[in-house]
Amino acid sequence: MTISDEPLLTQEAIAARVMELGKAIRRRHGDGGIVLLCVLKGGLFFTADLARALSGEVIIDVIRARSYEGIESSGKVTILTEPTTSLRGKHVVVIEDILDTGRTARVLLERVRKEEPADLALCTLIDKPSRRVEPIEADFVGFTIDDCFVVGYGLDWNERYRALPAVYVLNPDISPASS
Ligand code: IMP
Ligand code: MG
Repeated sequence: MTISDEPLLTQEAIAARVMELGKAIRRRHGDGGIVLLCVLKGGLFFTADLARALSGEVIIDVIRARSYEGIESSGKVTILTEPTTSLRGKHVVVIEDILDTGRTARVLLERVRKEEPADLALCTLIDKPSRRVEPIEADFVGFTIDDCFVVGYGLDWNERYRALPAVYVLNPDISPASS
């Protein structure tokens, strides 16, 4: 496996977009408390940066789903870790690293909705709309990209590359993004 020499999304571009998203999320939710529900593990870095870009009261909790083996989705999504914060009546923003087929987001949003939050939004760092299987749209999107497999800033390939500070294309020579 190789990754692109240059980042697809630089640290600077990510940092600037995270600030904008923080402001947009604040505008939607007003001055009240917001629960950021980090989808582990891919959403770790994005959630940490977004939380610090948000003014006012922020509660962080986590939810973990298993949906992916290697590069191809298994199609089956199970919830492995549940949030411990009560979400009833809260303003909840689910923070995803990437919205691909939408299967994971569909299951997670259904799970959160059961607790009857006052407001529920989906925020994703990256959107790959061309791969969508479920009719899911994010309320806040950092970047929209073509169909290629990306790693870094939380995104992994079999647990590798997650801690890279920017986002790179995996196998750029065979990825559709390079053609
Ligand atoms: P979905 O359920 O197909 O929308 O995929 C959700 C999960 O698949 C994401 O949270 C990622 O963990 C993983 N995934 C999808 N595309 C990529 C990618 O390009 N790079 C790394 N992980 C990905
Ligand atoms: Mg993953």
